[in-house]
Amino acid sequence: MLKKIRVFDLQVGMYVVDTGLSWLDHPYLYSTEGAIESEESIKAIRAEGFSEVFIETDRDQVRRDTQRIYDKATVDRAMADALRDSPLFMPTNKCVPLASELQTAGEIHSRSLTSLRYAMEAVASGVPLELQHSLDAARDIAASVSRNRDALICLSRLHDAGGYHIRHGVGVSVLAAAFGDFLGLNRTQVTELAVAGLLHDVGKALTPRDLLERPDKLSDEEYQRVKRHPIESCSVLSVNAALPAHVLRGIAEHHERHDGSGYPRGLKGPEQCFFGRILAIADVFDALTQKRPYKERLLPDKAMSVMYALRGRDFEPALLERFIKCLGVYPAGSLVRMSTGEYAVVSESNPDTPLRPKITVVFDQDLTPIHPVSVDLSGKQGLAPARPLEVAGVVDHRAHGIQTGEHLL
Ligand SMILES: [Fe+2]
Repeated sequence: MLKKIRVFDLQVGMYVVDTGLSWLDHPYLYSTEGAIESEESIKAIRAEGFSEVFIETDRDQVRRDTQRIYDKATVDRAMADALRDSPLFMPTNKCVPLASELQTAGEIHSRSLTSLRYAMEAVASGVPLELQHSLDAARDIAASVSRNRDALICLSRLHDAGGYHIRHGVGVSVLAAAFGDFLGLNRTQVTELAVAGLLHDVGKALTPRDLLERPDKLSDEEYQRVKRHPIESCSVLSVNAALPAHVLRGIAEHHERHDGSGYPRGLKGPEQCFFGRILAIADVFDALTQKRPYKERLLPDKAMSVMYALRGRDFEPALLERFIKCLGVYPAGSLVRMSTGEYAVVSESNPDTPLRPKITVVFDQDLTPIHPVSVDLSGKQGLAPARPLEVAGVVDHRAHGIQTGEHLL
């Protein structure tokens, strides 16, 4: 019999089945088919944020019928049974409205930029690295994303001032922490992800600047020099006992890739640690969407489609899919063109419906300001749209001189 249970109730010997349900609808469902062989496997599944799983209770049936296909009615019945037994875990967020968190998040974002600037200057000049400011910033970032993930995500995407490497470190920190919170990790783990993201590239302070900012292709020798930075980050950070070994390992492995094509060690699949896999996704998404010295930024929906095309090659597919779910295809702060031709600012992502965020329509078809109208496109809360309303695409607000942040307060 097909049965849906909590990952908390998984036991060695149970047989997990893949029912074919979409990750978009069920981001917390573990669906790698096969028997659970050890307690370590269960711990790993829980640590990665999965909360629910379908099992087949009739092991003989599994052995007889290797090509089992569950019809929709069977799956629906199992889900209904599970819901009747107990409400399944679903990470919640946004206990504070976005507008309320934005001011605090702005202060945290600013302090985080300053703490990383100090750290990189210390590494560049060879003075001992004092990590307290970075640890404080990481703790504040973890606290903010626990109140409302969208606030810091939005601010770090809209912030253009300062050097790329400082903005990027803070951006990766925010994304990694927000994603960890979305996955249901505890506050200590989310703080560790925040500090790992903040400091993951601190070793680049030792890389010749010309190599980091040159638009031309690097020679093999020059590229080998750049590829030393994950280990150099770990080296300068490992002299400080404040960072646990698994945080340093995550930093060392942020350029490893799912298919083994990354560096420095060419780790494959689960050989790359969990923090390393999260940092790799956050690192690439932030790099693609930030203005870099040698490349134009991509809009977030384009960056996500580029990364989605690389799932299974560069990124663990299930983890990348949940990252997209966490941010939404249209992250908060994005300017979007609606199906009506009007323009809106995304005010909140909807993890259950990544294509249907909450928006505030603020401009007409000619980008003339209008009286703001807030709409939850998922139709779950507040005003439902009076006419069919969908996001048609993301628009580069900078190209139109629009400060989307002003429309979120
Ligand atoms: Fe890096």
